[in-house]
Amino acid sequence: MTVRPKLSLRASNASAAISYMEHAQSLSISHAGDCFGHKCPRNDILSNVIASGVAAWQSHTWNTHSHFTIFPARDIIINMNTKDSVIAVLKKSRDYVSGEKISETLGLSRMAVNSAVKSLRADGYEITSVTNRGYLLTRSPDIINCGELSAYLPSERTEKVLCLESVDSTNNRLRSLALEGAPAGQIVIAESQTAGRGRYGRSFASPKGKGVYLSALLRPQNVTAASVMSASAWVAAAIHNAVMNAFGVRTGIKWVNDLTLGSKKLCGILTEMSIESENGHIQYMVIGAGVNVNETAEDFPEEYRSVATSLYMHTGVKLSRAKLAAEMIKSLDKLSEDIPFNKQPYLDIYRTYNVTAGKEVRLVSANENSVAYAKAIDDEFGLVVIDKDGNEKTVHSGEASVRGLYGYV
Ligand code: BTN
Repeated sequence: MTVRPKLSLRASNASAAISYMEHAQSLSISHAGDCFGHKCPRNDILSNVIASGVAAWQSHTWNTHSHFTIFPARDIIINMNTKDSVIAVLKKSRDYVSGEKISETLGLSRMAVNSAVKSLRADGYEITSVTNRGYLLTRSPDIINCGELSAYLPSERTEKVLCLESVDSTNNRLRSLALEGAPAGQIVIAESQTAGRGRYGRSFASPKGKGVYLSALLRPQNVTAASVMSASAWVAAAIHNAVMNAFGVRTGIKWVNDLTLGSKKLCGILTEMSIESENGHIQYMVIGAGVNVNETAEDFPEEYRSVATSLYMHTGVKLSRAKLAAEMIKSLDKLSEDIPFNKQPYLDIYRTYNVTAGKEVRLVSANENSVAYAKAIDDEFGLVVIDKDGNEKTVHSGEASVRGLYGYV
C-alpha cells in the first residue's frame, strides 16, 4: 500500500501551520493569528510555504509511514529545524536518549530522527549510538545554531533567533525583517558575513566560523532618537558583560564603542535606527556586534592584523561561540528593557573599563583632525577632552572617532 506521509509545517508563534492527515484526500491548512504578533499577514511567505509543501508532497510516492517537516524558502517563520531540535534534545541529556523518546518528544518519525543524526554526524557532531539505549552526544563542533543556543537559552527565546550560514550583513538582513514586521527581540546570527559593515562606512572582517556576528532588533516604545544617542556606548557595556559572563574575561572599552583586549580591537558595534519624521520617535533599532572569538592572526585581512585580536589569541583557549552568542542575547534583552531609563549600571561599567580617558588621542571627523587629551567620560557617555589650547569640550558619539597616538587604543 502506498501511504502518503503526514506533512506538517512547524511554525514559530503558531503563525502558520499546514497539516496533511494520513490518507487524507484534501489539504488542510490552518493559519492562526498574525505573524510575529504584529499586523503582518506575510501572505507571500505563507503561499511559498504552501506551494513548496504541496509540491513536495505530491511529487513523491511514499511506501512507509513517515512524518516530515517542510521548511519554506524564506527562513523567518521557522527557526528550529529538525536537526536543531534533535541537537537540543541531545544537549539537554547527560545519558543516552532512545530514538523513540526523541521522536515522541519532537513529533518526528524514527526515520527523521535517524537521518537527522546522520546529518549531524556529517556536520561534525560526535553522537554515540548503543542498541537498546539510544544516542549520546559526546562532542559538538563550534557551530552556532538554535540547537546549540538552546543549551544556554530557554527554547521560547530561540524562536526569534535566525541562524544563517552566510549573509551580506546581519544588520542588513535584520533591517529587512524589521521592515517586514519582525518583532522586538528578533536576532540574526551568521557564521560568516560577505559584506560586514562597520562605522563610518568601514568594512568588518567576518571570517567563517570564527567570530560571533549578531544583530538584535529593538522596538523601544515612545522613545525619541535624541534620548538614545548614546545607545552604542550602552551596547559596549552590554557586550562587555556578555564576554565576562561567558568566559570570565574583562575587556576594555575604547570610546565610543569598541571592545579591546591587550590594546587591540576585539569587538566592533554598529547601531542603526529608523526614526519617525513627525515626532522623532524610534521605529526600530538594529544593534549589530561582531566579536572576534577563535581567530588566529592569519584569519584577519592583512591590513587589520596590527590592530585586531581575538579571545583565542588572548587566552590561548578555543571558546564556544554559541555560549557567547547566548550571553550577548541575554545582555541585549536586558539592555532593551533598560534603555533609556536605567542608565547607571551601563555608565558604571563603561567608566570602569574605559581605556580612552587619561590618554592623548587624535580626534578624527570630516572637519576635524586634532590631538587632544581625553579627560573623562561624562554622564551622557560623551568624551570630555582638553584641546591643545587648553580648552575643554565634550565630544559626543557620531561627532568624531578617536585614535590612539601610539597605537590603536
Ligand atoms: C565597527 O567596528 O566599526 C563596527 C563593526 C560592527 C560589526 C557587526 S558584525 C554584526 C553586524 N553586522 C554588520 O554588518 N556589522 C555588525
